[in-house]
This record gives sequence, structure tokens and C-alpha cells, in this order.
Amino acid sequence: MEKLKAAVLGGTGMVGQRFIALLKDHPYFEVKTIAASPRSAGKTYKEAVGDRWKLEIPMPDEVKDIVVKDVSDVKNVAEDVDLCFSAVDMTKEEIRAIEEEYAKTETPVISNNSAHRWTPDVPMIIPEINPEHAGIIPAQRKRLGTKRGFIAVKPNCSIQSYTPVFYAWREFEPYEAVVSTYQAISGAGKTFKDWPEMTENIIPYIGGEEEKSEKEPLKVFGHIEGDRIVSYDGIKITSQCIRVPVLYGHTASVFVKFKKNPTKEELISAMTSLSGEPQKLNLPSAPKQFIQYLEEDNRPQVTMDVNYERGFGISVGRLREDTVYDWKFVGLSHNTIRGAAGGGVLCAELLKAKGYLERK
Ligand SMILES: NC(=O)c1ccc[n+]([C@@H]2O[C@H](COP(=O)([O-])OP(=O)(O)OC[C@H]3O[C@@H](n4cnc5c(N)ncnc54)[C@H](OP(=O)(O)O)[C@@H]3O)[C@@H](O)[C@H]2O)c1
Repeated sequence: MEKLKAAVLGGTGMVGQRFIALLKDHPYFEVKTIAASPRSAGKTYKEAVGDRWKLEIPMPDEVKDIVVKDVSDVKNVAEDVDLCFSAVDMTKEEIRAIEEEYAKTETPVISNNSAHRWTPDVPMIIPEINPEHAGIIPAQRKRLGTKRGFIAVKPNCSIQSYTPVFYAWREFEPYEAVVSTYQAISGAGKTFKDWPEMTENIIPYIGGEEEKSEKEPLKVFGHIEGDRIVSYDGIKITSQCIRVPVLYGHTASVFVKFKKNPTKEELISAMTSLSGEPQKLNLPSAPKQFIQYLEEDNRPQVTMDVNYERGFGISVGRLREDTVYDWKFVGLSHNTIRGAAGGGVLCAELLKAKGYLERK
């Protein structure tokens, strides 16, 4: 099978590097083009990244000599590729405009950015939960005036360690939840070298993150009505998001109330048996088991569990009855794999399998 050619927009950054690492030897996609700011444009990828390579694995040889293009030079970036993955750090207005420009060159955009998450006809997909939201793409294409171009996004990294759990428990009707997230510094594109102030520190504020943590699950749980996705209104979520001195891995401490009265065994069984289209379609990045439950009192732990299912799975532990809420638990997910680039790659695999991505 001939691979689809991909551009990575923001390829020199933390999430862009992760896209490039995950796309190495990918069976459906190959990185043909890398684009970043004018500071990087014109340099080889190796020169542009310099000492900013942030991953624990080496830079793939295949990309080292690619000459980086300028993200704003849309025609030039889009001309040789079938789709692009987007992880640029620009203003929301700039990102919204430029991602639409790419879509209008008939180049589908799979975006990690938040700019289009609330555009009513842009699907925000967790492939195991709402693959059917891809069905909004024809309406979006009609608005954009495109035949194949569109934008699809993945939701924020902060929601990944509890949203799939609520979905697994939908038959028990969770209706109210309190979530505190403990988020890794790589979620801000940083390592300890870039952000030494985070060593032995906690910062009780992450701009915009609490609103995303409360509202984005509702769009993911929503349904298509005409030319828009309407959010679910059956659960209220309140959250606090805290930055902690961890490199990779967002942990969530969660309290939930249910309309029904599930047992612990039923809750564990519903979580661990959750399986969706990625598993049915056997997509290359799909975790075999999406959610694992760990019985030990001191799990999930970041250092032991963040890479569960290559970072595409979610680890849950400490499920127990609560005196104020009904049940409480702790969840953990990899913020730059399931929560960012990996979630984007899995979304692209799903869209390819459903026929939304093909050669130009
Ligand atoms: N890190 C995470 O876990 C995570 C999770 C979810 C969402 N996000 C979102 O993903 C995006 C990227 O995050 P990141 O952590 O990878 O950031 P980052 O490490 O700071 O990387 C930013 C990227 O954007 C490029 N860029 C910056 N200014 C630009 C401009 N004016 N024009 C074109 N390109 C520009 C940079 O290119 P140069 O190298 O040339 O400067 C770099 O490639 C952000 O919108 C962020 O909110 C991140």
C-alpha cells in the first residue's frame, strides 16, 4: 500500500517531535514535509531543532535533512502532501485561520491545537468514544467549499485520564464529577532544562485548562444535529488543574455521582472491557486494551504506568466508595502520546479507515 504523505506543522516543537517519532515507519503515513516558524524555515530539521530535541528516543535519521518550511507559506507546504498534522504555537485566531487555509488547499488537517475545538462542524475525536462524529465532515466541507479538505481535532491532554472512564460507565449514568488534574511540564512544551523553576515545585494554575477539562468531554459525548455537533448536557464536571514536577504523564483524582447504583465489580468490568472502532479495525496505533485497572493501593504511578500500551492506554486505580460522592478513583494518561500527537495519529488512522483521507 502506498503511504499518504504528511506534513507536520510545528514539527520542531514538543508535540511536533512526538508526531515525527510516532510516524517513523508508520504503515499508513510518511513525513514528507516539516514546517515551523520563520526562525526555523530554510534550515535542515536537524539544524532547526539543534539542542531542542526533547524526546527520550533519538531523532529519526529519515527527517534530519528535510529542509524546514514556513507554516505561513501554505501553498508551498501543502503542495506535496496528502494531509497535515498540526501542532503550532501561534495565537488562536492565527491557528484558526491558517488551519482553514490548509483545508482549503484540499489538504486535511488533523490538529492538536485547541483553536478549532469549538467550531461546531469540526469533530473533536477520541477514536474509541465518538468515531461517528467524523460524519460531520461532509457538512464542514460544504461550508469550506472543499472536496477533500477538512479539519479534525483531538481534545485536550487533561481530559484523557477520566473522559474514557466516564464513557465506559455511561450505562450507570454518571451525572456529576469533581476532577483535580496533576499535569506534567511537557504539557507546556517544556522539559526541566527549559523550566528549572518547576524542580521541586507545584504551580496551582494552568491557563485555560480548567474550562477545557470541564467542557471538552461534553462535546466528545455529544451528537450530530444537522450541520453541527451538539454537546451532551447529562454530566456536570468541575475541575482544578495543577502543574507538578513530572516530565510526562497527567494524573487525575476524580469523584463521581451516579444515577444508578453500580458495584465495584461492575465498574471495573465496564472499564476494562471498553473497546471501540480502533480495536475492531485493528488500527496500527490502537491499544489492545484501552483502560487497565490496577489493584495495588499505590498505582497508577507515573514512572511505572505512563507508558502502558505504548502511551496509548489509560491506567486507573484506587477505585473506592466515597462518603460525599458515590465513587472515587485515580487515572493516568500519557499527555504527549494519547493526550497529544498519539491521539492525533490514531484519529488520522481512523479517518483513513473510514475513507476520509486518501491520496490527493
Ligand atoms: N505539549 C503538550 O502536551 C500539548 C498537549 C495538547 C496540546 N498542545 C498544543 O499543541 C501546540 C504545540 O505545543 P508544543 O508543546 O509542541 O509547543 P512548542 O514545543 O513550543 O512548539 C511550538 C511549535 O510551533 C512553532 N511556532 C511557534 N511560533 C510560530 C509561528 N509564529 N509561526 C509558525 N510556527 C510557529 C515552533 O517553531 P520554531 O521551533 O521554529 O519556533 C514549534 O514548532 C500548542 O498549541 C499547545 O497548546 C500541547
